[in-house]
Amino acid sequence: MAVDASRCAQIFSERFGSAPAVIARAPGRVNLIGEHTDYNHGFVLPMAIERDTMIAGRPLNEPVLRLWAENLGAAGEFSLNAIARQPDAPWADYLLGVALELQRLGRPVSGAEAVILGDVPLGCGLSSSAALEMAALAFFEALGGFRLDDAEAARLGQRVENGFLGLSSGIMDQFISRCGRADHALFLDCRSLERRLVPVVMEQAVFVIANTNCPRGLTGSKYNERVAECGEAVRVLREKTGREGTHLRDFTASDLDAARGGMSEVVYRRARHVITENDRTREACEALSAGDLVRFGILMNESDRSLREDYEVTNRELDAMTSIARSLPGCLGSRMTGAGFGGCTVSLVLRDDADRFCAELSRRYQEATGRAGETYVTRAADGAGAVSG
Ligand code: GLA
Repeated sequence: MAVDASRCAQIFSERFGSAPAVIARAPGRVNLIGEHTDYNHGFVLPMAIERDTMIAGRPLNEPVLRLWAENLGAAGEFSLNAIARQPDAPWADYLLGVALELQRLGRPVSGAEAVILGDVPLGCGLSSSAALEMAALAFFEALGGFRLDDAEAARLGQRVENGFLGLSSGIMDQFISRCGRADHALFLDCRSLERRLVPVVMEQAVFVIANTNCPRGLTGSKYNERVAECGEAVRVLREKTGREGTHLRDFTASDLDAARGGMSEVVYRRARHVITENDRTREACEALSAGDLVRFGILMNESDRSLREDYEVTNRELDAMTSIARSLPGCLGSRMTGAGFGGCTVSLVLRDDADRFCAELSRRYQEATGRAGETYVTRAADGAGAVSG
């Protein structure tokens, strides 16, 4: 476990004067391949990482959340009646959004005092938001003595993002934060939510995450713009092919070529990314299952090129990080991960070269960009749940 539960309990005791009744946690994630496919009802292959958000607390008899966010040094008290967003404490929106969705499902949402402690880097493409949402859900579940079905839990988190927070994101991040399994990646069909665990304990290689430490800026609006462009591609594809699809998942590369004349160059490239990425992700899942790491690395590189040239969600720092990574000994493949526009990359690196790879990557990235990057070698971790209660 990434964050120490006893430290979290101790912070709670210092703040609120007793031991917590419940401690819940949820991990961040790294997506290995299948980027910007989830909201197109496609395929993804993420794994949960050994970095957590943890919430320790006890129930209150009044309908309020009294919170202390240790990493931010921020406190706040929020009513659970008529829940509203908190412009002065946006971090609390994730918990409040979860509480609101639980109320809508008719589930008991207890008032509580609680501390939040985490080590998922914030806003870096490792799903600190989903980790906070899924930790909040596990916390309310433990307090209320109920447990949602995993798919329902992930959908609830997605509704918080889509409705309460206004980001048109897909279901991947909440799903893997809830359902991750130690030493496994999760191949997920984002339409049916059918999934398969794929072992990622590899004798010869490790996944290395590299943080560009580059603020993501306009992520929200650019993200929603991509979602809209995919919607536009579907509209033209339906019209030109006469087929019934609702999402890019429903169309093939030859459908796209047939419809090309009806859409702008940009929309065509966006759709080409999504359609080819779905194919790559399925193939990558097979390659990983078969232990074909060389093929997996090649598919990572192709995914990155498509995200850079067709989907245009990389930036100078991400491109520097991946191209330096690819030039280093032992690197089988490297790509941006998450929404993009900054954040992190993930590389597949031969185990014997990993230490040197991390040191060299950080050094050359700083030389190229003037920014200090960070690298993390992580195992795949378990999904969300109560730690004790
Ligand atoms: C963000 C979103 C996910 C997914 C990725 C891109 O992490 O929250 O739903 O769309 O971007 O693959």
